[in-house]
Amino acid sequence: MKGVSGLPTPSMEDYLEKIYLAIDQKGYARSVDIATSLDVSPSSVTKMMQKLDEAGLGIYEKYRGFVLTEKGTKLAKRLVERHQMLEDFLHIIGVQEENIYEEVEKLEHYIGFETALCISTLLEFFEDNPSILDAYLKYREKQQKGE
Ligand code: CO
Repeated sequence: MKGVSGLPTPSMEDYLEKIYLAIDQKGYARSVDIATSLDVSPSSVTKMMQKLDEAGLGIYEKYRGFVLTEKGTKLAKRLVERHQMLEDFLHIIGVQEENIYEEVEKLEHYIGFETALCISTLLEFFEDNPSILDAYLKYREKQQKGE
């Protein structure tokens, strides 16, 4: 399956993230909005909403939009948190800002929750030990300068 941009269709996880964010911000998720934010056709969104409905993650009603079930909300919230956590992680280790979003979009679907938990612990560790993060960043700078 291909999206309108020619790239592979964003996965169910991406839809869940966007739907969750839309509901969080506006109280509802419209196919058109989700289609725009994922750069896919509205009919792909409709298809995915039906799939999510079948999976018990949401309720799709043709003329009334889409809502997440409790199970769907829980899962989507975890996905959104994982996305944010990975953005923070890439930011903290020094990945260039303009590359972070795209990198996270790739990474997030391949790491398991165990790895995500370890990364989140590492983030907390850096937060509690800023001097260690500082030492890493200085080291990294040196490496990049080729010293
Ligand atoms: Co994401």
